[in-house]
Amino acid sequence: MTTLATTSRSSALFRRKQVEQLISEGGQGQGGSLHRSLGVWQLTMLSVGATLGTGIFVVLGQAVPEAGPAVVVSFVIAGLTALFSALSYAELAGAVPVSGSSYSYAYVTLGEIVAWICGWCLILEYGVSVAAVAVGWGQYLNELLDGTLGVTIPAALASPPGDGGYFNLTALVVVLLAMVFLLGGAKESARANTVMVVVKIATLVLFCAVAFLGIRAGNYAPFMPLGMAGVSAASTTLFFSYVGFDAASTAGEEARNAQRDLPRAIMLSLAIVTLLYCLVAAAAVGAMPWQRFQGSEAALAEIMKSVTGQRFWAVLLAAGAVVAIASVVLTVLYGQTRILFAMSRDGLVPRVFARVHPRTGALRANTVIVALFCGLLAAAVPLGQLAEATSIGTLFAFALVNVAVIVLRRTRPDMPRAFRAPLFPLVPAVGFILCIWRMFDLDAVTWKVFGIWMAVGLAFYFAYGRRRSRLAAAGE
Ligand code: ALA
Repeated sequence: MTTLATTSRSSALFRRKQVEQLISEGGQGQGGSLHRSLGVWQLTMLSVGATLGTGIFVVLGQAVPEAGPAVVVSFVIAGLTALFSALSYAELAGAVPVSGSSYSYAYVTLGEIVAWICGWCLILEYGVSVAAVAVGWGQYLNELLDGTLGVTIPAALASPPGDGGYFNLTALVVVLLAMVFLLGGAKESARANTVMVVVKIATLVLFCAVAFLGIRAGNYAPFMPLGMAGVSAASTTLFFSYVGFDAASTAGEEARNAQRDLPRAIMLSLAIVTLLYCLVAAAAVGAMPWQRFQGSEAALAEIMKSVTGQRFWAVLLAAGAVVAIASVVLTVLYGQTRILFAMSRDGLVPRVFARVHPRTGALRANTVIVALFCGLLAAAVPLGQLAEATSIGTLFAFALVNVAVIVLRRTRPDMPRAFRAPLFPLVPAVGFILCIWRMFDLDAVTWKVFGIWMAVGLAFYFAYGRRRSRLAAAGE
């Protein structure tokens, strides 16, 4: 008897959704449905919007002292980790085009408890990274205000406790601004985001053009002053800059032709950001000796100033960075609301997250709750700690996506797939190993935070989600 009960309890934990069931629910929430309004261009901009931001404008400055000029190699290594997982994401987004991203992929392949763990990690990837990114925004905003109006926001209100301040008001403000856009609906947000992405790409191209003029060959030597260990450590730090390329996969139920466009958007956005990162990094370390990056909060702006000798260019770059980072906040916040929407529809988190505004298709209550959570987190916790927590959660979710590709190919070999990861099973297997390897490069404190986060998540699942799961109610 006991054995039987234990067996059925454990199989309930691994109950799976059917792909067809998931797709047929497409867009349906409480009280209305999401609108299918996004084309491949907007989806690509969504992923670029979510990716290109604090990593290149702020975290680069922290990674250069770790690797020296070889930081370019660190970007390539971090990009390769992202590439293998991106191929897996592209395959699943084309086969299971829904809003839950890897949470939903895990639900149809690995079962409910793994899906829950994945969804819980996605809160680190999306919710916590909104906070991390918002923290970095204030640094460039201050640079901009100083350059244009000659005023700066006092440190007490521009940094969280532990980082020289009391409350990071600027971080809270940018999250609330993003919230206002999202309340207008996905189409309006996508439109605003597209404009912001164009501005940020133009800013980085301008930076490269100016910094290339200031390159001194001597700055590249020695190329690897801190050896391979430094390069590897920097690539772990820089992995954060690739977080977000999968954002298009959270728009599966708002895409006009999700099966065709999601894989394209994911791969295209990764190509665009990798190219930009390598160019910017090469130009930056060529134009400023690597030792000078230590402690510099707005390194790119400083380079612009020292190459041109004019403050104007640094202010222009700061303005671009302010727009760039705001667009990350907007798109990542968008992603988080859509993931919670999917989890709520499955009954694993409260129903309020699946409430859809009947006219605009916006997720109003969901957006407000998520924005307040992220905004307050950003106001109270320093960037470094948040960025590392984001990376570990993201890497774990990516690892699960690689496993999900392998499982779905075995369980549903004939299912139509708009995109297939090449060299199966090598690509997802390498993707999985790279993610786990990167996770072990993170420090002990990050692991401790991750352990506590997972324990809280599992407690929530057993106390709430397991009993309210819609799949359980349907007796499956
Ligand atoms: N990749 C995003 C950024 O760098 C999170 O801002």
